[in-house]
Amino acid sequence: MPDSTGYPDLDALLPRLGAVARLGSDALAAEIIAVLGRKSGAITVALKSVPSRPAEERKAYGAAVNQLKARFEEAFARRGEALEAERRASEQAGLDLTMPARHRWVGAEHPVTRVVDEIVEIFRGLGFSVAVGPEVETDWYNFMALNFPADHPAMDMHDTLYLDAPPIAGDQGGRLLLRTHTSPVQIRTLLESPPPVRVVIPGMVYRNDPFDPSHAPAFSQIEGLAVDEGISFVDLKATLVHFAHRFFTPTTKVRFRPSFFPFTEPSAEMDVECQLCHGTGCPACKGTGWMEILGCGMVHPSVFEHTSVDAERYTGWAFGMGPHRITMLRYGIPDIRLLYDGDMRFLEQFAAGPKSS
Ligand code: PHE
Repeated sequence: MPDSTGYPDLDALLPRLGAVARLGSDALAAEIIAVLGRKSGAITVALKSVPSRPAEERKAYGAAVNQLKARFEEAFARRGEALEAERRASEQAGLDLTMPARHRWVGAEHPVTRVVDEIVEIFRGLGFSVAVGPEVETDWYNFMALNFPADHPAMDMHDTLYLDAPPIAGDQGGRLLLRTHTSPVQIRTLLESPPPVRVVIPGMVYRNDPFDPSHAPAFSQIEGLAVDEGISFVDLKATLVHFAHRFFTPTTKVRFRPSFFPFTEPSAEMDVECQLCHGTGCPACKGTGWMEILGCGMVHPSVFEHTSVDAERYTGWAFGMGPHRITMLRYGIPDIRLLYDGDMRFLEQFAAGPKSS
């Protein structure tokens, strides 16, 4: 940097000399070139200017430049050694600080996990608690206690994944299988705690199904069970309509269709207005404008019999919904397998913010 006389100003270099001790290795290399570089290093330029100085200044100025050059050289050497020592020490500690840093990687919940949590939260707000049960069940819990007749097709080898293990002896035993629904946890809950009962039961269930755009051999369910004195179908309907309005939108249309399950009577299936076409009909809802999201009904008296609940005193309702399906419905996902692939390019789209529609 030239001073008022047009010659490089040595004083201006002093702060840079002081800063050398704090330089990292890349900055140090750059500073060495900037100060001592053969072509345009600040000290080099100053040295080159010595012969053109007025004769009376030449000696003193030249001496000052050489002294400063020596101080820079020493500072650079010292800093270089210190950096090298740091590098060796961290290498010995298994750390290589010269390695480029990894990008910070922020994880996010899987969209199905988030949907499950949201559903559970809505029911929690209504006073429901959360229960869980085992994924390996006996056929007593999965079928018999739920009033499935012994020859029901759901129990067929083609529909249910049985374990290659000896059957469990005793009243509640039988063949071991991967539960085909979360309804056996209704039985476990009622055997453990007498009414009043209000629980939701999230979990995985398994069926001998192909893996295709609309089926998976393993998928999630959320069971709901409310048993108390004086519970009627009105409570069931009001609760599920409230749920649909909280989860989808406050104006989402809902309908109940009569259905059949061995463990509820009467039984129904609940449809919600297709979230993609809003009821006008599209390929996703097969032109109907509706999508089925759950099965439900009033708890069958035979379920009470198997769990020693007094069917004269108590009534109840239950439902079972499929969060994988509900996730597809909410986000317009055309193929269930996308929810199993673990493809980051797909999952990342759900990482930021809440629901999309
Ligand atoms: N368990 C039934 C199924 O998997 C759903 C259901 C649960 C229906 C509770 C009625 C009551 O299809």
